[in-house]
Amino acid sequence: MHLEFNNKKTDKEILNKANQFLFNKKIIDTNKSLLLYGDNFCGLSFLLKNGYKNSIDLVYIDPPFNTNQKYFISQNKCNAISKNTNGFLAYNDNLSIDEYLEFMRERFVLIYNLLSDKGSLYVHTDIKMGHYLKILLDEIFGIENFKNDITRIKSNPKNFDRRAFGNEKDMILFYSKNNKKNIWNNVRMPLNQQEIDKLYPKIDKVGRYTTIPLHAPGTTLNGVTGKEWRGLLPPEGRHWRTDPNKFDIMDSQGLIEWSSTGNPRIKKYLKDHKGKKVQDIWKYKDPQYPNYPTQKNQKMIEFIINQSSSEDSIVLDCFAGGGTTLFACENTNRKWIGIDQSDQSINIIKNNLNPMTNYDYIDLNQICY
Ligand SMILES: C[S@@+](CC[C@H](N)C(=O)[O-])C[C@H]1O[C@@H](n2cnc3c(N)ncnc32)[C@H](O)[C@@H]1O
Repeated sequence: MHLEFNNKKTDKEILNKANQFLFNKKIIDTNKSLLLYGDNFCGLSFLLKNGYKNSIDLVYIDPPFNTNQKYFISQNKCNAISKNTNGFLAYNDNLSIDEYLEFMRERFVLIYNLLSDKGSLYVHTDIKMGHYLKILLDEIFGIENFKNDITRIKSNPKNFDRRAFGNEKDMILFYSKNNKKNIWNNVRMPLNQQEIDKLYPKIDKVGRYTTIPLHAPGTTLNGVTGKEWRGLLPPEGRHWRTDPNKFDIMDSQGLIEWSSTGNPRIKKYLKDHKGKKVQDIWKYKDPQYPNYPTQKNQKMIEFIINQSSSEDSIVLDCFAGGGTTLFACENTNRKWIGIDQSDQSINIIKNNLNPMTNYDYIDLNQICY
């Protein structure tokens, strides 16, 4: 499956183009976080030439969505964003669709080469461009490395006068470099009160609990899990969940509840619940008063970082904007690399980083020739 569009280059041509960039400076200390000011194709090429090939564990990007808009930061209200032409231009999002797809494809190819074998890429996009980007990513990463198309509920329901349904979601495409090796910390979510009330309806001196049968589906022919226990046999087509000798221990510990008719059930306490598996529909609204246009929800990015990177990982955002990913890394103790070509973005990042942050800053325009 391939997506055809004008001026589409091969992976090799893209890598050759990246290779043609020459730099008069090297990264001295790859143990420090790094902020690069300039075009990210040049920035990614700089990283490839400075020892970062196959070494970045997580990339989160939130590129322009090809909205045909200019995004400004308003001067009079420093927190307000605006699509009007007053204030400072933050970034311009006005490529033709062919140009946009090639722009993204070029960056995806370089990102693929920077990712480590246990690495993951999360691309935040929208429903207009996302399906094209999915095909581009399938081409570059291989469809077997596609993990999720996450629906992100970004707003309250809309009631615009439009001959279509309201749009309250965007999407995050999640790929691994190698689907069997990507870092996956299995971060789970706590149950909410409604779920607790439903799943753990009983309470005793230890806390909230529910009960489950001692038996599970499947028969055992000769094993201990088919043997009689206290005069009881597992029902037809079922076997004991464990060696019934263990039921004696559990019973002595008060972990078995007996009904008035003599039916035993195992007690499962809320305190032992490990949290629920996170699904692919997320609700994270973006800040109401952002520092930067289209600034994303930092908690959402912290969740991605906790799930798909380790404390010794490098996390890259080459469309850094207001620096949400970089601040999320600071909060989660990860080393980061941020790239943006907007001076507004770079100023906001520099001004909002803790002055004690240990990072290098490089202006790509000064070192690329
Ligand atoms: C949607 S914003 C990112 C917002 C960010 N996720 C946040 O939470 O603040 C996209 C950013 O990509 C930057 N950008 C667009 N094209 C770029 C390029 N070729 N090189 C570097 N940055 C670029 C823009 O300047 C803009 O800051």
